[in-house]
Amino acid sequence: MKIKTILSIDTSCDETAAAVTCGRCVLSNVVYSQIKTHQPWGGVVPNLARREHQKKIGPVIEKALKQAKVNWPDIQTIAATQGPGLSIALGIGIKKAKELSQKYNKPLLAINHMEGHFLSPLALDNKGQGPINKIKFPVLGLLVSGGHTQLVLMKKIGKYRLLGQTLDDAAGEAFDKVAKMLDLGYPGGPVISKLAPQGNPLKYDLPIPMARNQSLNFSFSGLKTACLYKLKKIPDKQKNKRFLQDFSASFQRVLVHSIILKLQLAIRKHPFKQVFLGGGVINNQHLVNEVKKTAKINKIQVFLPYSQELLTDNAAMIGIAAFYKAQRKEFVKNIDELDRKPNLCFS
Ligand code: KG4
Ligand code: ZN
Repeated sequence: MKIKTILSIDTSCDETAAAVTCGRCVLSNVVYSQIKTHQPWGGVVPNLARREHQKKIGPVIEKALKQAKVNWPDIQTIAATQGPGLSIALGIGIKKAKELSQKYNKPLLAINHMEGHFLSPLALDNKGQGPINKIKFPVLGLLVSGGHTQLVLMKKIGKYRLLGQTLDDAAGEAFDKVAKMLDLGYPGGPVISKLAPQGNPLKYDLPIPMARNQSLNFSFSGLKTACLYKLKKIPDKQKNKRFLQDFSASFQRVLVHSIILKLQLAIRKHPFKQVFLGGGVINNQHLVNEVKKTAKINKIQVFLPYSQELLTDNAAMIGIAAFYKAQRKEFVKNIDELDRKPNLCFS
């Protein structure tokens, strides 16, 4: 049987997400964001995340089926994010997927959330339109989110090599932590990226992370500390809107510069013709513009998903990874043994 229609579930962090895909076409993509629940605490609170996932997982799945105009008999398989992510959050999605798989007698697929981010540009809208005509292997994945910052080489779909990743904080985490220091609320990445275009990116002298390091790894915690020290020296009365714009622009400039240096290094070390961008931080226009400039000079094509909704956490991207995994017939063999893998990595 050719697997086409898949119900996918993602509960890897603070979004409860379900989607229905048919092949690479996204028929529905429902995301319930828990941001409001976590906002007062300035970050994701694991127990609250679990409670919210438990409450919303059922209604979110129902909505995904309804929006896709499909019923259970139309669904051929169920996919769930196995990891990486927040352990108690992942558990809710996996438990639900197992229950549904047994209740409706559907095979199950366990998906790597980061493979979902990587393959998100391959998603097609409900008219079958998408950005990519032809994949030219190997493809580089630049995956930048709140939990991860990775450079991954894809030799073919399903075969990956992790070239580099962050040694400490992820880029999105650095955005959020610096935003917190500036009292910009949570999550602060989008706020910094809105303030930055009005500011002077050269106003504050901040270090470019890992500038002389020849590996493809990233590190953002030193930059975070440098921001903290710099901010301590600035009197509160000088912290007006102009200051926020200048500081956001300066921080964004060095963080993006650090990612671009690693991209240039990856181009030199591992020739490739296409780069796929995925993860919430790819919403940052400055980052995307700089990636495109570097790619153009090196005659590399850049692809993003057809919609911004596929950048931040969602289940449609899980459906795309699941579609290819179903083609490879990599179904879960023993459902009872399936468990979350909070530290799941590209092997
Ligand atoms: O991919 P995602 O939804 O969740 C994870 O898998 O981690 O990414 C969320 C992250 C947050 O850290 C958020 O601040 C960041 O993406 N983010 C941004 C922007 N939009 C979202 N960071 C910088 N600029 C943005 N425009
Ligand atoms: Zn993610």
